[in-house]
Amino acid sequence: MMQRWNRKKSHFPIVALILLGVVVCSILHNESSIQQIHEEDPSNQGPKHQQHASTVTYVVPNLGSHSNLAPVFLDRFSRCNSTSEYSGKRIRWGDSHVKKGRRKSSESCDVFAGKWVFDSESYPLYNESDCPYMSDQLACHKHGRSDLGYQHWRWQPHDCNLKRWNVTEMWEKLRGKRLMFVGDSLNRGQWISLVCLLQSVIPADKRSMSPNAPLTIFRAEEYNATIEFLWAPLLVDSNSDDPVNHRLDERIMRPDSVLKHSSKWEHADILVFNSYLWWRQGPVKLSWSAEENGACEELDGLGAMELAMGAWADWVASKTDPQKKRVFFVTMSPTHLW
Ligand SMILES: *[C@@H]1O[C@H](CO)[C@@H](O)[C@H](O)[C@H]1NC(C)=O
Ligand SMILES: *[C@@H]1O[C@H](CO)[C@@H](O)[C@H](O)[C@H]1NC(C)=O
Ligand SMILES: *[C@@H]1O[C@H](CO)[C@@H](O)[C@H](O)[C@H]1NC(C)=O
Ligand SMILES: *[C@@H]1O[C@H](CO)[C@@H](O)[C@H](O)[C@H]1NC(C)=O
Ligand SMILES: *[C@@H]1O[C@H](CO)[C@@H](O)[C@H](O)[C@H]1NC(C)=O
Repeated sequence: MMQRWNRKKSHFPIVALILLGVVVCSILHNESSIQQIHEEDPSNQGPKHQQHASTVTYVVPNLGSHSNLAPVFLDRFSRCNSTSEYSGKRIRWGDSHVKKGRRKSSESCDVFAGKWVFDSESYPLYNESDCPYMSDQLACHKHGRSDLGYQHWRWQPHDCNLKRWNVTEMWEKLRGKRLMFVGDSLNRGQWISLVCLLQSVIPADKRSMSPNAPLTIFRAEEYNATIEFLWAPLLVDSNSDDPVNHRLDERIMRPDSVLKHSSKWEHADILVFNSYLWWRQGPVKLSWSAEENGACEELDGLGAMELAMGAWADWVASKTDPQKKRVFFVTMSPTHLW
């Protein structure tokens, strides 16, 4: 398991996240914990990406603070003019800007260690058909699934019991805050699910959902709170960031740039990231920020993920104050196409 820097459940909706079925691990990432992600992936049998140990070039992540140049972002029309083998360039992590001091946990129970139990009495917490924001993609019941038993699984920590989830208590904790999910369709599902859990007590004229866009926002006026989803399947800048037209033949990313997305997520109070399945769809083209002629390099998905996670982790380490923000990373997702 990766490090956990926060187990306290009294201020923020950790309990709800667990109820949602998110396997959450907290972060304060460093290279070794990212390495662990790879080691823990049992289906990873592919070769590691090419090592060019003798001539490693380091690239400073483009965090938007060091450069005066206006960044040019990739979009779905971006193309590579040429593609060469991965040069071995690595991202140089920020020096020691990492804010020390993890939040001390006063919680004696580790809510991250537990198991799923079947609970036919107090679950489900909401019915699909009662949620006006349920998306067709996720509406199992509406599309004829007859076995609805999956709605009854409840997270049970080994050493304590969680309080039953209470919608008004959660809204009080979210008052004046922005909670944002960032990632791929798995996190979009978690976001919709949380919105469905929470929306029922907000009168229809006091809540709103923005149109589908890279950033989609559910707003509860009385609580001055939002629950948002940012489509950023690779976390870093990529040509797959259009929330609708993202299934492209050629996957291109800018491994040293999280700027396009971090400008949207940086002011959120609670961040839940995920990224996984998109790295398992074959090689990825790398378009480094400094490359001006559309020349790309190509790298296998695992190596590309490592680069992207490095840039992302660097952003988290250098730009978030653990006293003020909570950051979670959902480590692994099952496929959910059927
Ligand atoms: C990095 O991760 C390793 C293993 O998870 C841990 O032992 C080490 O203390 C971490 N370093 C920092 C700076 O957080
Ligand atoms: C869901 O629907 C069932 C059957 O219609 C009902 O008994 C149950 O109370 C509903 N649950 C919620 C959380 O609304
Ligand atoms: C939820 O919490 C509120 C405020 O603490 C309380 O008034 C309410 O009875 C609770 N609802 C349930 C179903 O426990
Ligand atoms: C609403 O919340 C935002 C933070 O998301 C805060 O900046 C703003 O001051 C709040 N407004 C009110 C009226 O409380
Ligand atoms: C690709 O190459 C053409 C011709 O050399 C050039 O005009 C174009 O600007 C290049 N594309 C990019 C994205 O640099």
